[in-house]
Order: sequence, then C-alpha cells, then structure tokens
Amino acid sequence: MMRFDVITLFPDMFCAIKDEGVVARGIKKSLLEIHTWQLRDYSDNKYRNVDDKPYGGGAGMVMQVKPIRSCIEQIKQKNPSSKIIYLSPQGQKLTHQLAIEISKLESVTLLCGRYEGVDERVIEHDVDLEVSIGDYVISGGELAAMVLIDSVSRHVPGVLGNVESLNDSFANGLLDYPHYTRPEIIDGQQVPEVLLSGHQANIDAWREDQSLKSTKKKRQDLIKK
Ligand code: ADE
Repeated sequence: MMRFDVITLFPDMFCAIKDEGVVARGIKKSLLEIHTWQLRDYSDNKYRNVDDKPYGGGAGMVMQVKPIRSCIEQIKQKNPSSKIIYLSPQGQKLTHQLAIEISKLESVTLLCGRYEGVDERVIEHDVDLEVSIGDYVISGGELAAMVLIDSVSRHVPGVLGNVESLNDSFANGLLDYPHYTRPEIIDGQQVPEVLLSGHQANIDAWREDQSLKSTKKKRQDLIKK
C-alpha cells in the first residue's frame, strides 16, 4: 500500500486521477491512497490567504511558510516517515528510474505550488526532494503532482498487470515498439507480416529491433546513455 498526501489550493483537480483510470483502480484495490489537503484550511487569517508579496519586490506572490508548515505537521502526525516532495521547475527531473525509486516509499507528501512558488525556507527546512516534470513551466504543481502519482503508481506491485509494466517504454531504456490491432489491412495499410506468423521468437526479435530503430531515429540522447 502506498499513500499520497497532497497539499494544494485545488483539491478538486485530483478527481482527474482519483475517479478514472489506472490510479483509480489502484485505489479500489486498496493498493493506493490519495488524500488531499486544502492549504487554505491552514491559513492564519480570516481571509484564508496563504500568499504574500515577495521581499525585494517583483511580480507575483509567494506562498508563505506558516500554512505549509502547519499542514505538513498535521500530515506527519499520522505518517511521521512521509517524504515531502515539492513539485517545481527547479527540481530533479522525473524519469522512469526516479518513479521506481519513489514507488518504494510507503508514504509521500506532494506539495503543489502556485504563483511564483513557495518561500525558500520551506525548501530548505521541510522539503526532502524537489521534482520537475520537464523543462517548461506550468501554472501550478497540481498537474505535475498528478503526473508523478500516475507514473509512480504504475510501479506499485499489483496496480498494473505484471506484463504491462515490464513492457513499458523505458523499462529497457528504449522507446516502445509499434502496436497493431484488427483489421489486417485498412486503406491499403498492412500489419507487418511477422506479427501474423504466430512465431513468438521472431515476433520478440522484431519488436526489439523496432524499439532500437525507433529510439535511434527519435531519441539519439537515449542511445548515448
Ligand atoms: N510547477 C510549474 N512547472 C513545473 C514543472 N515543470 N515541474 C513540476 N512542477 C512545476
């Protein structure tokens, strides 16, 4: 069982993964738990503000330390070992390998930033790991947290069928091979002959070769690794 606690200003966004798909099935099978925490509930004022102007001036607002720290404290009362992950473009890049590492943890807390991000003192004192989903900026950590939860959940035993996860792209460091389904011919386009041969060893060899060719063509950077 893996538990995700999510600190966010937009808990409803997480319906996207809680209600449908692989993560939802993991929850139904009691292999995963997702708990969202509304950061505004930890505000210290009646307006439920959780952000303020940046020292030194400049655009945007910065998320304050106090509400985040109070919320983390509450989460840790139940799960003292929970690892705190902050989603931001400054983080370590999320890869297949990092998803596997995170999936070995029993409990993680995902901190979703909005605006210009969180006060640096949160990162210094409270955050165990800063993770980015890629070199671009999105408008908040929520979508990034959902990407992380989905990619990590796939490695929690039982969430996927075993075969499914073994055959994933990147499981062998390469891109996936091409897939085909019925009919055999459509608009003059044929399914590769070998896939109809019933000869499994040949099919496996063809798929491996296709993976390699596709990776060489589309992702030279992966070949160099
Ligand atoms: N928040 C904004 N952009 C992000 C990114 N690329 N990765 C993770 N969190 C983010």
